Amino acid sequence: MATINENFLNLKESYLFSETAARIKAFEEKNPSPKVIRMGIGDVTLPLSAAVVEAMENACHQMGQQSTFRGYGPEQGYEFLRLAIVEYYSRRKVLLDTSEIFISDGAKSDIGNITDIFSNDNIIMIPDPVYPVYVDSNIMLGRKIEYIDANADNGFLPLPDSRHADIVYLCSPNNPTGAVYNKDQLALWVSYALKNDAVLLFDAAYECFIRSDSLPHSIYEIPGAEKCAIEFCSFSKTAGFTGTRCGYTVIPKALTRKSKTGSDISLNKLWLRRQTTKFNGVPYIVQRGAAAVFSEEGQKQVKKSIDYYLENARIIGETLKKCGIAYFGGESSPYIFLECPNNMPSWEFFDYLLDKAAVAGTPGAGFGNNGEGFFRLTAFSTRENTIEAMNRIANLFA
Ligand code: MLT
Repeated sequence: MATINENFLNLKESYLFSETAARIKAFEEKNPSPKVIRMGIGDVTLPLSAAVVEAMENACHQMGQQSTFRGYGPEQGYEFLRLAIVEYYSRRKVLLDTSEIFISDGAKSDIGNITDIFSNDNIIMIPDPVYPVYVDSNIMLGRKIEYIDANADNGFLPLPDSRHADIVYLCSPNNPTGAVYNKDQLALWVSYALKNDAVLLFDAAYECFIRSDSLPHSIYEIPGAEKCAIEFCSFSKTAGFTGTRCGYTVIPKALTRKSKTGSDISLNKLWLRRQTTKFNGVPYIVQRGAAAVFSEEGQKQVKKSIDYYLENARIIGETLKKCGIAYFGGESSPYIFLECPNNMPSWEFFDYLLDKAAVAGTPGAGFGNNGEGFFRLTAFSTRENTIEAMNRIANLFA
């Protein structure tokens, strides 16, 4: 008899963003007008940039010619894209080798799949609140999770405490709170990991929203991180690839851990073995588009889109201030994490805002217990919708 993975029964009934989407759909069916403005899931609204589209068109054309057609690509990604990423890191004086970069169909998949290379008896430390994939993918394996409190008192930037963990998830700029670690704070995590022989899983999907020169974009800006950290990044929010799908994971060659027999095992090698077995790579056309993001023109174009979203974030922040609603994030991040007015619980505020203003966000409680009483808005809407949503919110609370 086939038996199921019972750990799945310990998950919430549905994934957070499936749950919010279902509730919004049900609301829209009953209330066709005014149109619901979606500021919930962090999905981009600006189209792919011209440099990306041109590169993908050229690649499409190549795929239609006998002489330039390609079949299976390298599982780890094409060298041209990995080289472009290595060059991008080198601008911040982070020196990597192309063999340390793995191209994937997005950070979410890699963050979920990385669990394959770690044994189930690891103690996992996860900040609360957090992007739900970290928690759910470990619950699926029945792993022991230690939560570390992120809250208004620590600016949603928890630092190591006296507890031991083997694997620590960090996300900066943070999803959902928009908080960003500085170098000194990240150095504390690196030193914790080195002391505990732990591995940091660093989610840098929102690094391109950082505008302050002093804030780190990558964990590898911290000395020693190459011996204790894996970094995940994505073109989703950087370049509008939420539907196109491309991301990358960095596993330095210097990152090793002991096997039970005492040999030093390269995590890069384990991940390569995992990927070559279970993954066939990202389409050539998509990788050409992703590489174009790093061209001079591509960089200018994606910066313009990110500036657009950051301006939306500023408009959201300005409205919340006007309404006397406290919030975190929104400066080096597309996420604004606000305190629900009148001490409303998160899901109640979700229904209230949908009902009274036809604005959809994400309840903080969906990201963990410490998210209760908070609510996440994203800056990824169009300017017009952001302004309209803020007018509706100001009408309710200003
Ligand atoms: C979010 O809204 O948190 C993100 O869009 C989810 C994701 O990137 O998978």
